[in-house]
Amino acid sequence: MTTIHDLRVEHHRDALGIGEAEPRLSWSLADTQGAAQTRYQISVSDEISGLRADADPVDSSESVLVPWQAVPLRSRERRQVRVRVWVAGESEPSEWSEPIVVEAGLLHRSDWNTDFVSPSVSHSAEGPRPAYRLRSRFDLPAGDVARVRIYATAHGVYELHLNASAVSSDILAPGWTSYLHRLRYQTYDITGLVVPGQNTISALIADGWYRGRLGFNGGLWDNYGTDVALLAQIEATMSDGTVHVLPVSSAWECAPSAIISTGLYEGEEHDASLDDLVEEWTPASVLPFADFTAEIVAPTGPPVRIIESIAPVGVEVRPNGRIRLDFGQNITGKLRVTVTGPRGHTIGLHHAEVLENDELATRPLRGAASIDRLTLAGGDHPFTWTPHFTFHGFRYAELENWPGEFLPEQAVALVMHSDMERTGTFTSSDPLLNKLHENVVWSMRDNFLDLPTDCPQRDERLGWTGDIQVFGPTAAYLFRSTGTLVSWMRDVAAEQKALGSVPNFVPWIECGFPQDPAAAWGDVAVMLPWTLYQRTGDIGVLRDQYESMTAWVDQVDALTGHSGLWNSGFQLGDWLDPTAPPEKPDDSRTDRYLVASAYHARSARLLAQTAELLGNTGDAAKYSAVADRAASSFRYEFVTPSGRVVSDTETALSVAIMFELLANEDQVQRAGARLSELVIDSGYRIRTGFVGTPIICDALARVGAHDVAYHLLLQTQTPSWLYPITMGATTIWERWDSMLPDGSINPGEMTSFNHYSLGAVADYLHRIIGGLAPAAPGYREVLVAPVPGGGLRAASSELVSPYGLVRTGWTREGTKLVVRAEIPSGVTARVELPDGSDPIDIAAGSHEFVCSYRPAEDDPAAVQRVNLHNPEERALLETA
Ligand code: BGC
Repeated sequence: MTTIHDLRVEHHRDALGIGEAEPRLSWSLADTQGAAQTRYQISVSDEISGLRADADPVDSSESVLVPWQAVPLRSRERRQVRVRVWVAGESEPSEWSEPIVVEAGLLHRSDWNTDFVSPSVSHSAEGPRPAYRLRSRFDLPAGDVARVRIYATAHGVYELHLNASAVSSDILAPGWTSYLHRLRYQTYDITGLVVPGQNTISALIADGWYRGRLGFNGGLWDNYGTDVALLAQIEATMSDGTVHVLPVSSAWECAPSAIISTGLYEGEEHDASLDDLVEEWTPASVLPFADFTAEIVAPTGPPVRIIESIAPVGVEVRPNGRIRLDFGQNITGKLRVTVTGPRGHTIGLHHAEVLENDELATRPLRGAASIDRLTLAGGDHPFTWTPHFTFHGFRYAELENWPGEFLPEQAVALVMHSDMERTGTFTSSDPLLNKLHENVVWSMRDNFLDLPTDCPQRDERLGWTGDIQVFGPTAAYLFRSTGTLVSWMRDVAAEQKALGSVPNFVPWIECGFPQDPAAAWGDVAVMLPWTLYQRTGDIGVLRDQYESMTAWVDQVDALTGHSGLWNSGFQLGDWLDPTAPPEKPDDSRTDRYLVASAYHARSARLLAQTAELLGNTGDAAKYSAVADRAASSFRYEFVTPSGRVVSDTETALSVAIMFELLANEDQVQRAGARLSELVIDSGYRIRTGFVGTPIICDALARVGAHDVAYHLLLQTQTPSWLYPITMGATTIWERWDSMLPDGSINPGEMTSFNHYSLGAVADYLHRIIGGLAPAAPGYREVLVAPVPGGGLRAASSELVSPYGLVRTGWTREGTKLVVRAEIPSGVTARVELPDGSDPIDIAAGSHEFVCSYRPAEDDPAAVQRVNLHNPEERALLETA
């Protein structure tokens, strides 16, 4: 009997305080015996009155993001939603699904009936500055209170307490958006925390992204304003539906806190001896809501939380008395320590991603000190502390001035990131490849701290557009990240509108970096919405971003003088080509204007397809013409008739192949052959940067050069994807050789050990090696065309797709290959076996295919693997 599970609302993990009045619904089916859904029915009821409205059944096989079929939600309205379906061959519908509860937030600006309140203190021009306390008392109305909510946000970052309890486990709320344009608010359920009569709401508030230092080259303070402020509206809904808006902003008071300084880059200083100081409460200042001009919006993605805690795997007392902790994993987060010591005693917590010459390597942190300090209040009771408003990128930490003996259980590392659900995995018979994949997952976790960032450790941590442009497909597979990315894309659009171009990182900060449009970075405006549509089936993303997509392509088209060739001005090009000198990361072997023109052609083509999908035939024709012109100009300028490309580089050939810029299949094959030659000539070492790396294996696969792709992928000597693994990496590095083979750190001043960009190859692992590729938006159709090779005995990909769990994989024994595919209801798949036999179309269910497979002659031993940590193997390499 068919059952419905995983009923979801929009891209939310939790449907409390949502911003959509007509949220779309998605569900998956189980136990359908392969039958497809033919019809569905949505039922919406009021939680308290039980009044229920069943919409008319809809004849449709769709179960992803189907329209809301009830009266639109009003602000604060709470409804229970159920779905049932009919499947082919069954006359009776399924049981109704388990209900989910959907509650709207404050949908209109006019729902806000309170003002911002600010600790009225003057502060230094430059920080880091303290955190402040704010509080207000309010009376719960007498009578039958059904629920109590707090709607809150801040200029700055905040945490709330109601009476003595934390209101939520969110960290660094409200997160970072382009505050001048969009500020997110949070909705919290505090029904269980209020008491009859008087209650106290209190907040800690600090600079965060609003007022703290951001950006490199010294950075800037007060980017969005000079005053931190809290906006908090408490509402009690009585059982008869009456809503009381509780305290008024004039009742708020403020006081200093024990957090004497805190900054995202700097770290936090807490003086616990101040915790028991006399309370110095003074009235807070009121900043009228009417003066606040940004849009106030509900979250579309999950908040940042502590997701995991990690105990040290190594503890060492250093000659200088510091205690060094190794957590075995490079993470984004902070320490939590438990310590007893005399009043006034201060300990320091230092962080670093790697060691160099057996010391914490802090040079790569540049201007981000990343030091937390705790001053003790004394007494015999152990004090447990973690900073509130900072985070660090680290694997190692050192405790300075620890009082007495240190026990390993006195410190843990807390992993922080957006609380996204994991959706996709990959595994193979090759431990190094599995480690590479695990490192990609970690770098994604470490860089999805409310927005997609470049890195979590140095004085940057910015939403670089090019990084997520290339990593988007991988991100969409690994985690349910659409909600986070949709929010960020709205900021891209808002900044683009205000600045006249897509800035190179979003939110944009004027810290000296050129604001000029750059290919591959600005193309995020087109490519990320397209990726999200392909991977989730959400055409709404394309609709929402359409104006931004067209503005980008129009702007670049104008920059090319409508010739299609983007051949002047600022470019980042194939950033971090490993042949570029460390101090000149943009000095790639590939002509930057070739990259720019190729991207322009690609974005125009995707935009033409988007216009077509949205039914805008005029635009579809217009942008097809732009794309055609750009592609033919590209060929005229950069491609010889026989398919050689100028520049003669892996990146140039890969973009020409993958962006479909070549004239015909002969040219594609010729370019592919040249690409293979170059890769072989390099000794299967990587010679691509941000632009070429994500697509080079696909380009090789496109021309059937799978063995070359495998050799490149499995290379362990630098530069390669696996070299960092031989050096002990637990995340993806920014540079192929962030750490050099002798253990020293790359001299480039821009050297991080946690950038996801070069991990974009994971998408190839999922699709081509594991064999799980989307063939229609949202994985409604799947292509199962796994490519064995590289000496691998097995590989598999597994994805909780929008329609349910898809599993693909293969195992090889000698020349026998077994391919498996598990397909959920509503999905069809095409299986292409590597023996070249005819494709097979399959429907939902578990399938197994056997075919013969002959490994390439030099497979698997051709790639020499050297563990550089092993002195004997290193010596062999050096004498070779
Ligand atoms: C960032 C990159 C970014 C680049 C572009 C770097 O500092 O960390 O990931 O895309 O700058 O200039």
